[in-house]
Amino acid sequence: MKLLLTSECTEDTLAIARALGEVLEPGDVVALTGDLGAGKTLFCKGIGEALGVPPDRIVSPSFVIATEHQGRLAFTHVDVYRLGSLREALEIGLDETMAGSGVCVVEWAEKVTELLPTDCIRVTFTVSGGDRRGISVVAPDQPRFEPFRVRSQRFQPGG
Ligand SMILES: Nc1ncnc2c1ncn2[C@@H]1O[C@H](COP(=O)(O)OP(=O)(O)OP(=O)(O)O)[C@@H](O)[C@H]1O
Ligand SMILES: [Mg+2]
Repeated sequence: MKLLLTSECTEDTLAIARALGEVLEPGDVVALTGDLGAGKTLFCKGIGEALGVPPDRIVSPSFVIATEHQGRLAFTHVDVYRLGSLREALEIGLDETMAGSGVCVVEWAEKVTELLPTDCIRVTFTVSGGDRRGISVVAPDQPRFEPFRVRSQRFQPGG
């Protein structure tokens, strides 16, 4: 499934993220890629909210690379922006975190492409001027994503 969505404001991005969060299951990895300040952390807040994690707990980390939260499912928020090398990622056990039974959301996922599971959910952000963001979502073709597709219809062209 591939969806090309448009967010006009932070609330749109949160709504899209919450809708995706609702359909996530144990073991899912969500790989976030995109421009600086495009809304990746905000998207993590939305996913967290859907999983029952208070949004103020999801912050942009300065040194900590992975933060674990407990909601409806275990939720690990990872930001690899400051990661030096792939080896460092393995040293902190990122591969194990992603293979775990919780939900794992990774900001700057392009830095750890080699470690991403093939069936991960890929979300790519582009800043297209002002508050507008393009958000593309690629997910495995599974019926469980159908409610997400329906709920994000209003963010699709002509939707
Ligand atoms: N449509 C939008 N969707 C998301 N964020 C938006 C939107 N319009 C404006 N913004 C602003 O853009 C910023 C996004 O910040 P956020 O920390 O989520 O980005 P990020 O991609 O995680 O950044 P970084 O690259 O530093 O990790 C916020 O200040 C937010 O208010
Ligand atoms: Mg961020």
